[in-house]
Amino acid sequence: MYETWEELEKSIVNCQKCKLCKTRQNIVFGVGNKNATVMFIGEGPGADEDRLGEPFVGRAGKLMNMAFEAIGLKREDVYIVNIVKCRPPANRNPEDDEAFACLDYLRNQVILVKPKIIVLLGSVALKNILGKEYGITASRGKWFEKKGIHYMPTWHPAALLRDETKKIDFIKDLKLVMDKLKV
Ligand code: URA
Repeated sequence: MYETWEELEKSIVNCQKCKLCKTRQNIVFGVGNKNATVMFIGEGPGADEDRLGEPFVGRAGKLMNMAFEAIGLKREDVYIVNIVKCRPPANRNPEDDEAFACLDYLRNQVILVKPKIIVLLGSVALKNILGKEYGITASRGKWFEKKGIHYMPTWHPAALLRDETKKIDFIKDLKLVMDKLKV
């Protein structure tokens, strides 16, 4: 566990803990306010993120930014990260060994940010953080608490691109987050 961002970032630059290192262009470390109250955890970088080294900059990210605007949340005020920091080929889901290898970095980021709330974007984030027994359809829109952190699972923004009706749920879930910030 590293106590500073500099040490943590330095420790990751040549990461070869899993096979995703062989096909990545860039490690997508995370972005945003390092003292954020709210952290968002996605799945893994896509092609745009791999190219630019920043999470959620492609179509799903643009949609997420629009949702942030709609509810008055600023992208630069939150911290955004993924379960895995390197792109899974052809955008497949991260495999268990890849997620496991990357989890210590994410844990370290959570410890450094100290968020009050973590939004879990989609099934991969939900299962890797809260446990395999959780399903996104049943869990989204509900609060879960673990070790003093409040978790809100919701749809992955890419799911909103495939099914417009999920946008309503997504906004609803983000509003619950905004409400919790006020208390
Ligand atoms: N999907 C994710 O889960 N993360 C990204 O950074 C981009 C798309």
